[in-house]
Amino acid sequence: MVILITDVKSPYRNISDDKLKQLWQKESELFKKKTPHSSHTFCEAQEIMLNGVPMPWMGDWGTPYPVFVDQATGNRIIDIDGNEYIDFCLGDTGAMFGHSPDPVIKAVKDQICNGITTMLPTKDSLFIGRELAKRFGLPFWQFAMTATEANRYVIRNCRALTGRPKILVMNECYHGSLDESLPHIGKNGNLELRTNYDTNPGVPKEALTRVVEFNDVEALERELAYKDVACVLAEPIMTNCGMVLPAPGYHDKLRELCTRYGSYLIIDETHTFSNGPGGYTAAFGLQPDFITLGKSIAGGIPVAVYGFTSVIAAAINANYGQKSASDPM
Ligand SMILES: Cc1ncc(COP(=O)(O)O)c(C=O)c1O
Repeated sequence: MVILITDVKSPYRNISDDKLKQLWQKESELFKKKTPHSSHTFCEAQEIMLNGVPMPWMGDWGTPYPVFVDQATGNRIIDIDGNEYIDFCLGDTGAMFGHSPDPVIKAVKDQICNGITTMLPTKDSLFIGRELAKRFGLPFWQFAMTATEANRYVIRNCRALTGRPKILVMNECYHGSLDESLPHIGKNGNLELRTNYDTNPGVPKEALTRVVEFNDVEALERELAYKDVACVLAEPIMTNCGMVLPAPGYHDKLRELCTRYGSYLIIDETHTFSNGPGGYTAAFGLQPDFITLGKSIAGGIPVAVYGFTSVIAAAINANYGQKSASDPM
């Protein structure tokens, strides 16, 4: 564990590694004492799930083993030992409005009695699409299951429309389990995976991705000038490596350079749409070609959406759009 203490006046500034180790041991012992059922379940789970967890990254918590959840409501989680926690993680914002909010329970109950999966559109999608257009300022919307998936669909469109292979992302970004966004700049300047992404060993690195530091306009221009970048995929504020705010004028420059070098600009609002209706894009007047968002958009139910301009909608239809039902085969 790395603890960064930047406040020179902080009383914690001079804590030694030994002291931290002792604290860690004390907290771990207390944790084990309070979570015997989680401990037992974790051991049992080794027989059926790789490393005892249903998804590889769930083994990556700072505790000796993960707590197994019994229930979660509002801002509380209760584990299978009956311990109650205040939840500051909120499903990494998927539960930004609290766990199982009443309106979501009602909507799910209503819908589940009216058919779960039909492969046909409903009129609800028009209402949602119009709301998104009004809020985010992009006229066309499509739906997906997860933010990863929304990003993947958008990247495919960008590749198809530009004929270019690469995606440019910001160093230390996270946009889901997309191969393209996992590589980062390593110590020797080559692209590599973060240690905690070793669970994704099959990710190709240089082949699909260019990576620059957020706010580094010079590097951005240098990499876009290769003219092999289909799109830049960026959060408006970086939220997955601490919070990194854009430097004044950065977003204008990002837009300008994408246009100059023929790359599409995707703004991933998955976390930042907490800025308000229309997310950071509306609050700060960004002009992306695509917006993607997921997680709390459906109160924790796996739903994601992506929006785009009418120029892109026309280009998709002109190049490879699906025929409408009235078109002859
Ligand atoms: C900015 C951002 N985009 C996309 C994703 C992917 O979300 P999901 O795992 O729900 O597909 C994440 C996940 O943390 C994210 O932080």
